[in-house]
Amino acid sequence: MDRFAVILAAGKGTRMKSKLYKVLHPVLGKPMVEHVVDQLDNIGVSRQIVIVGHGAEAVQDTLGSRVDYAVQEEQLGTGHAVQMAESELAGKQGATLVVCGDTPLLTAETLEALLAHHEAQGAKVTVLTAIADDATGYGRVIRGEDGNVTKVVEHKDASEAELAIREINTGTYVFDNELLFEALRQVGNDNAQGEYYLPDVISIAKQAGEVVAAHTAPTFDETIGVNDRVALAQAETIMRKRTNERLMRAGVTFMDPASTYISPDAVIGSDTIIYPGTIILGKTVIGSECVIGPNSDIRDSVIEDGATVRQSVLSDSRVGNGSQVGPFAHLRQQAVLGANTRVGNFVEIKKSTFGDGAKASHLSYIGDASIGERVNLGCGSITVNYDGTNKFETVVEADAFVGCNVNLIAPVTVGKGSIVAAGSTITDDVPEESLAIARERQTNKEGYTKR
Ligand code: UD1
Ligand code: MG
Repeated sequence: MDRFAVILAAGKGTRMKSKLYKVLHPVLGKPMVEHVVDQLDNIGVSRQIVIVGHGAEAVQDTLGSRVDYAVQEEQLGTGHAVQMAESELAGKQGATLVVCGDTPLLTAETLEALLAHHEAQGAKVTVLTAIADDATGYGRVIRGEDGNVTKVVEHKDASEAELAIREINTGTYVFDNELLFEALRQVGNDNAQGEYYLPDVISIAKQAGEVVAAHTAPTFDETIGVNDRVALAQAETIMRKRTNERLMRAGVTFMDPASTYISPDAVIGSDTIIYPGTIILGKTVIGSECVIGPNSDIRDSVIEDGATVRQSVLSDSRVGNGSQVGPFAHLRQQAVLGANTRVGNFVEIKKSTFGDGAKASHLSYIGDASIGERVNLGCGSITVNYDGTNKFETVVEADAFVGCNVNLIAPVTVGKGSIVAAGSTITDDVPEESLAIARERQTNKEGYTKR
């Protein structure tokens, strides 16, 4: 059977009190709606249609061409939102999953289980429910005497007795595709919010004598709907715990998991130790036997086996096997270090490569440079790469030794095995195996202070 998915992402998210559209708020560095789309990718659906409205452009920029879009001009409710996918899906045979863009913790396993239950029951509608300790704000699931679901009542429309129900609608459903769009035409907006509610399809199908089923999620945590910043922080906590525990079970040591924030998309090898205050986001890959942190911020980077990254900030960069970075280093925008390199205190590296064994141990800025194998950049080595308009490249060839406080004014090349004397400002290329000195001679005025 064909499977389709509709993701609701057109709401403004008034309760977030934010300029950023709700579904774009990140959880562990990744926008909520992207979490949802990633899980749908994992289970495999033939089409994903994201309903956009508020912030449509921003949502489209985030998700790109991996999904299709339908626009909901006016936010008249979740039922109305799904109707926007009609021109794309009407008349197609299959099962349509509807997921809200604000439920970032849903897992592919639960979505699979929901689909399996739907098929096993021969249902036309299956709603994913959960048991909440505090059901405030959620739609309540109403079951008949036979235990079957008859309808969902929104919090704002619920009676005293209904409010006491702890089984909630997670906002995730599977529908028979054809029935969905037929039933949506019958959904009205005579309710507390004056909106067209998607969950009304449940009672409409039920009254038409169709099979309506419910599947309960293993935990409420997984189904949390983020409507405000309190729920956003809860989602962050739950996902952090889930990700960290998975990594611990795979052999990663955390000194303090509660203060360690790792994207679910990051990969970390066994026997790596992570110290407190560390944030690892994006599609970062860290090898085995690395030491990371304390207080390191690593995004979209690759750290190979046995490397150390202490108190440092890295983005879009790569650290080779056994290299030592930090404390207090900054690698960004394609800084690529080979094996066994050393980048020490207060060194910034941008868009540069370091050959195996190269070192910049203290106080340097290295930008737009190619640093050869075993090069030693002394304390205070600076690539002068920018003239205010354009950027220029610096090349330091293998085994060169650059003394302390050297300005390398790009474009410039220091040849293989050469030495640049401390305090030099190098404006011309240095040939191989040479010594370059470019500084004022010292003069001593003897007896000067006695006079
Ligand atoms: C919804 C459900 C509620 C459920 C809860 C689970 C309805 C009427 N209520 O309530 O039963 O317990 O989710 O989290 O469905 N959206 C649009 N267009 C609209 C309105 C909403 O695209 O016109 C999108 C929002 O961007 C959001 C999702 O639909 O991603 C859910 O909307 P939201 O306002 O968060 O609904 P809840 O009040 O949480
Ligand atoms: Mg919600």
